[in-house]
Amino acid sequence: MKGLPEVSGGRVVTLDGPAGAGKSTVARRLALNLGWRLLDTGAMYRAVTLAALRASLDMTQEAELARLVETITVELPPSRVLLNGEDVSSLIRAAEVTEQSRFAADSPSVRRRLATWQRAFAVGNDLVTEGRDQGTLVFPQAFRKYYLTASDVERARRRSAEMAARGEPADVDDVLRSLRERDARDAARAIAPMTPAADAIIVDSTGLTIDQVVDFLAADIRDRLSLRDLSS
Ligand code: DC
Repeated sequence: MKGLPEVSGGRVVTLDGPAGAGKSTVARRLALNLGWRLLDTGAMYRAVTLAALRASLDMTQEAELARLVETITVELPPSRVLLNGEDVSSLIRAAEVTEQSRFAADSPSVRRRLATWQRAFAVGNDLVTEGRDQGTLVFPQAFRKYYLTASDVERARRRSAEMAARGEPADVDDVLRSLRERDARDAARAIAPMTPAADAIIVDSTGLTIDQVVDFLAADIRDRLSLRDLSS
């Protein structure tokens, strides 16, 4: 992203893709498998959204969001999300936050601020980062980039099973409809549209288990790491 300092960080693996492709679970398991840190960038957009909801901001107003992100802190220690030091890990998963998060995602000021934090996170850390724009804009020099996707029907099925497991049953057709709307919005966004980086490996997880996806990615990364060691 323009204007951001270059990062002399650790190795970065980016995992981008649409909602419901299994990114979060795959990223968490992959980070564990490699012994690298995990950065869930969606959690950052959610934390900003929660802060905006609490402050009753008009989220259609860029200036209000811009002011907000200058006054809050969002930190991601292992397995937790802190907003101004408060653990909001569960609160940011509320349906209202999911719904309203598109305003933060559409805001240039929010994106700029979060990209700076994301790059700072990579300093000195080997990292698996997941989001929408990690390979395209935030870490264009990433060591390895993946774009994880699955058919929208399969993603809707997974989402609705997840919601049922959380005690919030939802009709698959309704989930599919809102997922298609969100995909269209994410892809059409003027800033940081959701699209694979030119050098990303597209992984279609339709019909694959999480284990199969994680094994494939971990093997690919280990191959790359040993190739790099051989050539250095
Ligand atoms: O992946 P998620 O559902 O937790 O993402 C929450 C919101 O943040 C969603 O509206 C997409 C947006 N997002 C984004 O625009 N860029 C990212 N790198 C990560 C998430």
